[in-house]
Amino acid sequence: MARIFPIFATQVTIIFILSFFTINLAIGDYDTFVRSMDRKLLGVKKEKISHFRLYWHDIVSGRNPSSIPVVQPVTNSSTFFGLISMIDNPLTLGPKLSSKMVGKAQGFYSSASQEGVGLLMAMNFAFMEGKYNGSTITILGRNPVFAEVREMPVVGGSGLFRFARGYVQARTQWLDNKTGDAIIRYDCYVMHY
Ligand SMILES: *[C@@H]1O[C@H](CO)[C@@H](O)[C@H](O)[C@H]1NC(C)=O
Ligand SMILES: *[C@@H]1O[C@H](CO)[C@@H](O)[C@H](O)[C@H]1NC(C)=O
Ligand SMILES: *[C@@H]1O[C@H](CO)[C@@H](O)[C@H](O)[C@H]1NC(C)=O
Repeated sequence: MARIFPIFATQVTIIFILSFFTINLAIGDYDTFVRSMDRKLLGVKKEKISHFRLYWHDIVSGRNPSSIPVVQPVTNSSTFFGLISMIDNPLTLGPKLSSKMVGKAQGFYSSASQEGVGLLMAMNFAFMEGKYNGSTITILGRNPVFAEVREMPVVGGSGLFRFARGYVQARTQWLDNKTGDAIIRYDCYVMHY
């Protein structure tokens, strides 16, 4: 008996452990579909902050506009309330459209204010240059266009900007008040890995 008991006890322990795993797996199938993972597997090491300055060209006039109204504003609205414009605006390194283009700002802006012009901006900066080719940052925020500095959140990113968060500051560099064409300087401050 003294010899059998330890063996029996071991078997009971093994069965207990096995059944524990089985139960855990069974629960896992249904409830614990979210699992923590090793950040090294994602190549996520040290968070860094990047700053870059880009010029955003809103071309509304001419033969090849990059910014096109797709929904007209509510009639009589002095703030263009209700307007929605889709954009595919060039992003360049210098203030001139002829300077190096590193990507496009793709998305839309929409007039969301009935008192004073205030836009809702929803756009991706889609980079097309060097190692950033294919990476994006996503900007979603309020743009009171006549303010000197407009700050908008960077809410995410992809590629080299995975896990991105931060903000941009927009300043009007140039505005043609006849056509509405504008060049806006964007200073981007982005935390990413
Ligand atoms: C809106 O526009 C119409 C047509 O132009 C005009 O008759 C009306 O007085 C305007 N209303 C306001 C509140 O400006
Ligand atoms: C960016 O990537 C696209 C698709 O992979 C490629 O066609 C294009 O030539 C690349 N552009 C630059 C400037 O590397
Ligand atoms: C348009 O711009 C010119 C020169 O910058 C300025 O003198 C004029 O007042 C502006 N017009 C409007 C309607 O803002």
